[in-house]
Amino acid sequence: MKFFIDTANLSEINEANELGILDGVTTNPSLMAKEGISGEEEVNEHYIKICNLVNGDISAEVISTNFEGMIIEGQKLAKLHENIVVKVPMIKDGVKAIKWFSDKGIRTNCTLVFSPGQAILAAKAGADYVSPFVGRIDDITWDGMELISQISDIYTTQGYHTEILAASIRTPKHIVESAELGADVITAPLKSILGLLNHPLTDIGLAKFLADHEKVSKS
Ligand code: E4P
Repeated sequence: MKFFIDTANLSEINEANELGILDGVTTNPSLMAKEGISGEEEVNEHYIKICNLVNGDISAEVISTNFEGMIIEGQKLAKLHENIVVKVPMIKDGVKAIKWFSDKGIRTNCTLVFSPGQAILAAKAGADYVSPFVGRIDDITWDGMELISQISDIYTTQGYHTEILAASIRTPKHIVESAELGADVITAPLKSILGLLNHPLTDIGLAKFLADHEKVSKS
């Protein structure tokens, strides 16, 4: 399973990258805004900075909601760097745009996916990645992980090649469950990725090893 970090914050991207396990980055307009990045030029420069930091797929989202606008934006984004994956929302014009990009060899990530039917459409249109938002589904007391499981079953049964990118991850548990259920990729905030490290028995065990080592080296 690939690990992407879900942020536009360069120092967090760096920290995750230094672990040596980072395979890519996802961003969205809200994450860009959180970093105070605005305007086409500034946003594009920021994507290039991210591409130069991480050797992996970098999702860059279109703002347009109509087919023509998405095509213009997506082509510009794809030209920024070979690792850019154009992120397109799961709406009618988005499906058309994904098919268009797919026919032209431009890679896409279909975002804002909340149902198995939407995931089927994304795969049929030729999306390289589909992003089911597990955390936002949990937020409304449905089961985000159930969606990952359903999409995984459908894609296996149908032989679709679209990669399942579990998004809107909120906890380390979401990451573990995504792995169990067959997600190809998770995208998570740094906090959730680092949360995988934690276990009290590791801390207790390490403290004991170091204390025993210290005793012998003093005697
Ligand atoms: C996916 O690519 C999105 O950027 C992201 O995972 C959304 O997460 P959120 O629900 O925490 O905003």
